[in-house]
Amino acid sequence: MIFKIFLAALFTLATALTAARPCKPTTTQASWVSMPSLPSTGSADLSLPPPGMVLKKVALGHGIQNYSCPASDTATPAQLGALAALYDVTSLYPGTPRTGLNETPFNALSTILLWSQSIPLNLVNTEAAWPGTTSRPNVFPESSYGANTQHPFLAAADINIMPTIATIKFLGHHYFDQDSLPTFDLLTVGLKASVVKNESINAPLAANKGIIGSGAIAWLKLVDSGRGVSNGLSLVYRVITAGGAAEPCRASGAGNDGAT
Ligand SMILES: *[C@@H]1O[C@H](CO)[C@@H](O)[C@H](O)[C@H]1NC(C)=O
Ligand SMILES: *[C@@H]1O[C@H](CO)[C@@H](O)[C@H](O)[C@H]1NC(C)=O
Repeated sequence: MIFKIFLAALFTLATALTAARPCKPTTTQASWVSMPSLPSTGSADLSLPPPGMVLKKVALGHGIQNYSCPASDTATPAQLGALAALYDVTSLYPGTPRTGLNETPFNALSTILLWSQSIPLNLVNTEAAWPGTTSRPNVFPESSYGANTQHPFLAAADINIMPTIATIKFLGHHYFDQDSLPTFDLLTVGLKASVVKNESINAPLAANKGIIGSGAIAWLKLVDSGRGVSNGLSLVYRVITAGGAAEPCRASGAGNDGAT
């Protein structure tokens, strides 16, 4: 099997907590009702969370998607996994009193992050972490974006992406677990979501196509996997994506991507 690694699924995601235990919203929790709305692609929308859910966190993710091409050149790439560092942008969400950004700068965060920061992963080829390296595609083919499988994550670090907004705090990691379930581990706040895909819509046509120009990965509604490993979260939206889509299998040519 040929493994192809494409970089930089960059996304924000909203995670929500079920009101299984009746919980009184505090000042640090904003309910969906007080938010303008779930972001819209303009042509399709993910369905809203069920009533009674409370928004817990809005995260900005930065990392890579891992796809493979089956034997046939023309097959659709299959997703094998993903790795990303997550940062807390809850206080920047439009509509948040005092600290919320306007919608336009908020929606630009993922693209700005993608093009202004190195990929925060322990890549096999560390030089490939910088977005500018794709201007030398022969030196850094896509497979360069592969991460160290034993220790993919760098030490936790906050980020500064715009002079006009304060430091954005490290929140946790996104990865696929040993059962290949997408996992959002919000380490710094003790929340975790183990999820499966429930709905998928195409990113807007105008979304940033990413560093290798493959397109913005789909927006998703992801629901609890039912394995009993989530903690405090049961719903995740992956929205406002930049980059991260797979290239068609044929595009990179089998053989150049590292094989097992
Ligand atoms: C991509 O997924 C395959 C299959 O799970 C795995 O063997 C490989 O190490 C992954 N690559 C990266 C960079 O995570
Ligand atoms: C999505 O969730 C709804 C509501 O729980 C369910 O009826 C539907 O089957 C799910 N769809 C998929 C593709 O998992």
